[in-house]
Formats: sequence, C-alpha cells, structure tokens
Amino acid sequence: MSADALGFQLTEIDHVAIAVRDLDAAAAWYQQTLGATVAHRERIESDGVEEALLKVADSYVQLLTPIREDSPVAKFLERKGEGIHHVGYRVTDCAAALESMKAAGATMIDAVPRPGSRGTTVAFVHPKSGFGTLIELVQE
Ligand code: CO
Repeated sequence: MSADALGFQLTEIDHVAIAVRDLDAAAAWYQQTLGATVAHRERIESDGVEEALLKVADSYVQLLTPIREDSPVAKFLERKGEGIHHVGYRVTDCAAALESMKAAGATMIDAVPRPGSRGTTVAFVHPKSGFGTLIELVQE
C-alpha cells in the first residue's frame, strides 16, 4: 500500500534499541570502538528505563537499561539476555500510523500515542504482529 493510502510515511529508522545491563559500560564501548557519540541521555520513569542515545547519521542506537525490577526491559533481560529490544521507525504522524496499523489488524501496545524520550511522540506495536520484533512508531 502506498504512503498516501496509509495516511503516514516512514522517514527514517529512528533508532535500534539494545537492552544492556550496564549503560555506562555499553555507552563507553560504543564510543571507543565505533566512535559513536552519546547525543542524549534520559531516565524515562514511566517505562522504568534509562537510555543513552548514540547518534549515527540521522538515526540513533538507543542503549536501554532498567531502573526498576518491574520494568519491561528488566523482564526482557531476564528472559532473553542482552541484545536488540526493538526497532523505532520515524513516522510523519504517529496517531495516523497507529490508527492505520490498528485498522490493518495489528495488535497495539499503546491505544493512543504517548510522550517518548527527547520530546517525541511514540506508540508501540506488539511483537506478535511484527513477526517477533517489538516496533515503536516515533514522531519528532
Ligand atoms: Co525506543
């Protein structure tokens, strides 16, 4: 289906999120071995995580670590260990993307868009709809 028909457009891979146990060690490793710089760091209390965003051209690698035991990322680390947690797609209109995906039968984790880090608006799509990958829709 064309972007016009869907009512939104994908404009970038916004970020690839990686769950890690030690945020400082992981950020230092990415800086030292890949030359990536930390562009932003934030605690997102509502999600129970702290993130470090490493800038890679117009996208980010988002290192994520839990700040609470009941955080979904803590459960992910327990179940699967460190590794890729989700893919964030930058979209022109998060609400339109959410409605469009819902209409297409996708299982949404967020019923409505909500605030993400660095002032973005986001919504998550359940991995059972995304062939095993948790998807985040990100509008800047
Ligand atoms: Co994310």
